[in-house]
Amino acid sequence: MYINLGIIGNPLQHTFSPFIHNYFLYESKMCGGYTCYETSLEQLDDLIDMFVKYNFTGINVTVPYKQEVIKYCTELDITAKEIGAVNTLHFTKNGIIGHNTDIFGFHMMLESNGINTQNKRVLLLGAGGASRAVIPYMRLNTPLSFIIANRTVEKAEELAYLYNGDAEVCSLNDLKGETFDIVINSTSLGVKGEPFIDYGFNIKEAAIDMIYKPKVTSFLSMYSKNNIKLVNGLSMLIYQAAGSFNIWTGKDIVPNMEYFENIVYK
Ligand code: ATR
Repeated sequence: MYINLGIIGNPLQHTFSPFIHNYFLYESKMCGGYTCYETSLEQLDDLIDMFVKYNFTGINVTVPYKQEVIKYCTELDITAKEIGAVNTLHFTKNGIIGHNTDIFGFHMMLESNGINTQNKRVLLLGAGGASRAVIPYMRLNTPLSFIIANRTVEKAEELAYLYNGDAEVCSLNDLKGETFDIVINSTSLGVKGEPFIDYGFNIKEAAIDMIYKPKVTSFLSMYSKNNIKLVNGLSMLIYQAAGSFNIWTGKDIVPNMEYFENIVYK
């Protein structure tokens, strides 16, 4: 059987997902393909109809449609419900099921790098779409203190509400002189290679960036002399893909990170 997979979003020029999934298909000896569908909001209805009509198995969803696609889902699994965003559509005989494997990706990024937030002072920078995947992990691995800082403080407050625990909220400009064990960057600052802003805080254990390119991102490069762990977003990307692939095919992929690193950072 040929498995039809793909991704919807806009823009998609720089997505690495087709490479990852076609590699997973090859590794699992499965016959299929993964295609990019860069689409406008107006085309979304027709595209979803097309996926159903042509018996697609699965579609990844990326910016800006992770919330928009919820209306097409017959059902949301617990992960998607929890944070109100879908990155994986599974076309089944019972309808379209919406999942969120970004949460699994984030979890595995920390675990595979030997980082645990329990009893630590943790700072999350940013409160946009990407930050949402952090919340379920923090609920399970409760930090000693959890601080959410965002340029727009109201959005950090919304995220703290989603966390539904003890989180402090502040502006990025309130971090001067503070020390954290672990800092996670979920802002898009640095995504185009622009320098990160020095907000004047210190990091004791690990700096984690959801951005994966370049290898040492603008955020990580600010702390590269600090003798702390520096983790970019590549493992999160690969593991969220492995999570989607598992939902679609039932195959458990153990990604060879070294292989992907050599391709992305060659
Ligand atoms: P994504 O889906 O990639 O998370 P997003 O939802 O637009 O994209 O969120 C981008 C995040 O980066 C937000 O937290 C945003 O801050 P605001 O909520 O105040 O917009 C943050 N961000 C983007 N550009 C920034 C900048 N120049 N300085 C600080 N924060 C920035």
